[in-house]
Amino acid sequence: MKAQPSPSLQTTDASARVKLWQQRFETVLLGMLDVNHDAPAQLWQAMRYATLDGGKRMRPLLVYAAGHALGLEEPELDHVAGAVEIIHAYSLIHDDLPAMDDDELRRGRPTCHRAFDEATAILAGDALQALAFEILATHSAGSKHPDRLAAIIGRIARACGSSGMAGGQALDLAAVGQQLSLEALEQMHRLKTGALIEVCATAPAEWAAASPAVTARLARYGQQVGLAFQIHDDILDVTGNAQTTGKTSHKDAALDKPTFPAILGLQASADRARQLRDLALAELRGFPGDCGPLAWLARYAIDRDS
Ligand code: IPE
Ligand code: IPE
Ligand code: MG
Ligand code: MG
Ligand code: MG
Repeated sequence: MKAQPSPSLQTTDASARVKLWQQRFETVLLGMLDVNHDAPAQLWQAMRYATLDGGKRMRPLLVYAAGHALGLEEPELDHVAGAVEIIHAYSLIHDDLPAMDDDELRRGRPTCHRAFDEATAILAGDALQALAFEILATHSAGSKHPDRLAAIIGRIARACGSSGMAGGQALDLAAVGQQLSLEALEQMHRLKTGALIEVCATAPAEWAAASPAVTARLARYGQQVGLAFQIHDDILDVTGNAQTTGKTSHKDAALDKPTFPAILGLQASADRARQLRDLALAELRGFPGDCGPLAWLARYAIDRDS
């Protein structure tokens, strides 16, 4: 007989809960990017353009889901959720620039540098990254646990810096036209996409002062989901359609990027993504809190069509 997942993985209201977080998060984000009379109007407009109105909000949803599994309430998580999404939005603006992937379509609309101009897009990315850390630091002022918040800020900084996302993007650019080993490809994906996704699961653990064992489990969950998410992104570049993904298809091959489908083929790439999803789900078995939403998001990472 096949082993049944534990009840906490089957929570029927997981998808409803995720939808509620999605709605809540749009308001949270809007509040973070409300009017700013001090900023040059065009720069602020570009920052809002790239951040609001679109996107799956996978990273903030992971923050809420991990926090929920640890018994945290949403208001304790909003600043971290906002910060990771704002960092993600900055990374997309820069990823789309002519010097990087030279993309013209993002979230079904012209990319930031197309809608504005290149210099504005670079600065909007810079300013969004700064805004994310300002949000976290400002929250620290009134916090009951400034030490935990400082640790979260450190984790997020590492996840998006030279040994995280920015490092992964550097590897990605250096790999154009190269034949990468599977190990090197996985490492690149773990850094450019996995690191930020991992911190979405571990930042709430830091806030909850979770045990090292629980934090390590969430870190492994985040690593598996992060890598699976980027493998599926590579697959969607081949199999997806622009109407649904909101991005130009077949860009990776056109740019001669090493990707999972290019190195392993579509079938083996999908198998690897499923294997990682299952490893992520295995980390949730026996977890003390309600992991329904975390399980739902692990499946969503590789079932999504956008
Ligand atoms: C795209 O991220 C870039 C990757 C790291 C794969 P998403 O697929 O999360 O993009 P949005 O936020 O939903 O537009
Ligand atoms: C982007 O990876 C990873 C980032 C850190 C932004 P991709 O270049 O594959 O993302 P898309 O396909 O343009 O969204
Ligand atoms: Mg890229
Ligand atoms: Mg890209
Ligand atoms: Mg891609």
